[in-house]
Amino acid sequence: MQRDSGLSKCAAESEDVAVRDVDALRSSFLDSMASNSTSVHVVTTGTGDRRFGVTVSACSSVCADPPTLLVCINTRSPANVALAENGVFAVNLLNVAQRGIADTFAGRSATSKPFDFSCCTHTAGTLGVPLIDGAVAALECRVVAQQVIGTHTVFFGEVAAITRAPVTHMPLLYCKRDYGQFLAF
Ligand SMILES: Cc1cc2nc3c(=O)[nH]c(=O)nc-3n(C[C@H](O)[C@H](O)[C@H](O)COP(=O)(O)O)c2cc1C
Repeated sequence: MQRDSGLSKCAAESEDVAVRDVDALRSSFLDSMASNSTSVHVVTTGTGDRRFGVTVSACSSVCADPPTLLVCINTRSPANVALAENGVFAVNLLNVAQRGIADTFAGRSATSKPFDFSCCTHTAGTLGVPLIDGAVAALECRVVAQQVIGTHTVFFGEVAAITRAPVTHMPLLYCKRDYGQFLAF
């Protein structure tokens, strides 16, 4: 197919910034997303010995009517299976002092056992799921839909109950592969 010469010139000029090779595109995607600052959450589900928690940045509000959010969890994570089976989960929005808890539920703590709930104090919420003490907010959800996209499952949760800390609690943030905190201009 003949291309408009103006378009060809434009395409040639943008060759250095446009990434088309599959591996390079993946790597550029990860680097781009790493520049996206997010809050840090621990998604919890289950009770007793069947408790699971996983650190998650991929969490978003979906709508307020009804209050609904989504989380994306790797299909390889044991929390993924548990969450699908239980049909309920909590999103614990960590506060800025809870970095150690984030590392534990990401399986990368140097001090405590990976994914071990003894790294934090917690109570059972109205849906029976673990709510981490001191979280900026803990939102208890019922799964209303789920969809596997590539390596992750997107779980849509309708919020049934919310526990909130005092407004002075600030959220833990993650950006450029490191933790940080919010500073208003
Ligand atoms: C800040 C941060 C954010 C993360 N966000 C997600 C996420 O949104 N979804 C997910 O499935 N895993 C996420 N992870 C990874 C999991 O917490 C966890 O590290 C992983 O499931 C452990 O599995 P592996 O060590 O076997 O790879 C995140 C990890 C960190 C440290």
